Amino acid sequence: MNFKEVYEGEHVTRKFNNRKIPEKTIAEIIKKAQQSPSLLNSQPWRAYVLMGDALEQFKQASANNVDQGIKPHEDFASMLSLDWDTFPSSNMATMGASQSFFFRNKLNLFAEANKTMFNAPAIVFLTVPKKSPAWSVFDLGIFAQSIMLLAVNRGLGIMPAHSMVSYPDLVRKYARIPEDESVGMAIALGYIDKNAEVNDPVYIPKRVPFDKIYKVTK
Ligand SMILES: Cc1cc2nc3c(=O)[nH]c(=O)nc-3n(C[C@H](O)[C@H](O)[C@H](O)COP(=O)(O)O)c2cc1C
Repeated sequence: MNFKEVYEGEHVTRKFNNRKIPEKTIAEIIKKAQQSPSLLNSQPWRAYVLMGDALEQFKQASANNVDQGIKPHEDFASMLSLDWDTFPSSNMATMGASQSFFFRNKLNLFAEANKTMFNAPAIVFLTVPKKSPAWSVFDLGIFAQSIMLLAVNRGLGIMPAHSMVSYPDLVRKYARIPEDESVGMAIALGYIDKNAEVNDPVYIPKRVPFDKIYKVTK
């Protein structure tokens, strides 16, 4: 694919079809993503992949927690402040992903997709050491973006979702992540189910007007 196709093709997939991804493909993507820049080349990231039976067990355990009404307790929520400034808050309220489903009365599609972890055949969990400066979280974001663009380039769908790290104790258990690492984010990878309503481009939320985020001074 050319760069324009990859960049413009980077929208999330909330339902994957049943086709499996070879582990080798995922390993190649993560290996290439290691080229990402990081503060002083610190490369604070680690990637843990769950697939096959281990992934099914993890999905079941997480869904049980959702059914029991156990509150999400992401590692990053305890590591970083959860106070949102007005600008991102109002963006989430007016053009966040859940809003585009809400206004079409289809919030259930969105909730079900999250609960079933998008029928993903593989999930990559991304961590940084618990003892990390904010820079490392920034670096992890760059690493995540590299993984996603490389995956799109290979014809895969991508789904970054904090809902998959709602219960870090379960992520740690099934993906065998040490206690001293923060489970930051998860990216589901797979092939896009083109017939699923939840993947309809009508649900892609709009971006804020450019002049709201850009200012040049000469
Ligand atoms: C850090 C992060 C966390 C996200 N968490 C979720 C999530 O838990 N559930 C979900 O359905 N989408 C989640 N998303 C996807 C965003 O809602 C989506 O990227 C955004 O609405 C823009 O849509 P688009 O990527 O299709 O253009 C997340 C994206 C990022 C980058």
